[in-house]
Amino acid sequence: MKASVTKGLGQGFVVEEVDLAAPVGHEVRVEVKASGLCHSDLSVATFIGGEFPVVLGHEVAGVVTEIGPQVTQVKVGDHVVGSLIQYCGACVNCLSGRTYICSNPEATLRGADGGSRISWNGAPVAQGMGLGGFAQETLVHENQLAVVPSEMPWAPAALIGCGVLTGAGAVLNSANVQQGETVVVIGAGGVGMNAVSGARLAGAGQIIVTDIEDAKLDRAKAFGATHVVNSRGTDPVEAVREITGGGADHVFDFVGARPVTAQGFQMLGRGGGLYLIGVGAMDAGVEVSALVALSSSQKVQGVYMGSSNLKRDIPYYASMYLQGRMNLDDLVSREIALGEIDAGYESLKDGKTARVVITDLS
Ligand SMILES: NC(=O)c1ccc[n+]([C@@H]2O[C@H](COP(=O)([O-])OP(=O)(O)OC[C@H]3O[C@@H](n4cnc5c(N)ncnc54)[C@H](O)[C@@H]3O)[C@@H](O)[C@H]2O)c1
Ligand SMILES: [Zn+2]
Ligand SMILES: [Zn+2]
Repeated sequence: MKASVTKGLGQGFVVEEVDLAAPVGHEVRVEVKASGLCHSDLSVATFIGGEFPVVLGHEVAGVVTEIGPQVTQVKVGDHVVGSLIQYCGACVNCLSGRTYICSNPEATLRGADGGSRISWNGAPVAQGMGLGGFAQETLVHENQLAVVPSEMPWAPAALIGCGVLTGAGAVLNSANVQQGETVVVIGAGGVGMNAVSGARLAGAGQIIVTDIEDAKLDRAKAFGATHVVNSRGTDPVEAVREITGGGADHVFDFVGARPVTAQGFQMLGRGGGLYLIGVGAMDAGVEVSALVALSSSQKVQGVYMGSSNLKRDIPYYASMYLQGRMNLDDLVSREIALGEIDAGYESLKDGKTARVVITDLS
């Protein structure tokens, strides 16, 4: 089969003929139908690094074609969406419903003596995040797959696996936003838009979006923002304090730059929470005055993958989409072929493109 292989830092994405092993244990063979280009894979390929050569791609949707002997949760023909959340299902965190912080995620992978799932010219190839979605086919542990209705279109389905779980999950799971509460979304990118959708589903009273580009803010309005603030021309802290009448209940930071996150904390009202999701720089973070935080009962929380339970949340977002209650179509700005990943990432820089999805896997 064909896969896009990243051979080293800065070496891009090159289509090669590779071999995929037969499924063992809980592994599921999936014919990939759509694979989204998430920024994190570009970071791995350009500056974070890891094991090379590697097949990246972690926003993946496709059809189950074969199952390992121990698989019970999916069957051949099922339409599935993958997630990078790897969980064992047996540790204390998994058993308390917090699979996103499983203490034994390696349980979803082959052991050292299990052989590689992917090989190229007889040598092992790493599989990004247990998914390796930049390929015609992939082999995934059943715990990393959720079944979606067959009428769900492929490109929006793929986006659910990372950007939607992260953005909407931050609002619905991590912050547990209640009806009428006020929400601020800092950064109107592909993930932030799903936080806007999540805030609508939660019945938030005000959804304020800040960005530094008017085109992004126009899109935010189309997704359901009640107020938008361009923080290049307006002080976003003052604007949020004025709109909310004193400060917001929940602020979601999808940017992750120290001055921006500091502003996010200043936007909080009494009892408010700041959620850290984006990491725009290695030193991203925030300093918090204990006196301010305690006297106003405020909190700061890091959010991994929207505190999501993928088996529950992926089908939920698919059904919200199918009912017309969640906009995913406007996130799919461009569809490309497997061999066009480098150009696809390049086009994400133009300021207008939300997400690029591989749908031509021929
Ligand atoms: N925590 C997690 O589990 C998790 C999972 C997936 C993605 N992420 C992270 O989420 C972040 C957002 O991802 P994305 O795909 O939406 O990125 P994106 O680049 O599409 O969006 C970022 C947005 O922030 C805006 N922005 C930049 N500077 C700003 C400022 N000073 N004030 C307001 N807005 C500003 C940009 O114009 C852009 O619209 C990334 O850092 C990504 O790595 C985190
Ligand atoms: Zn991602
Ligand atoms: Zn676990």
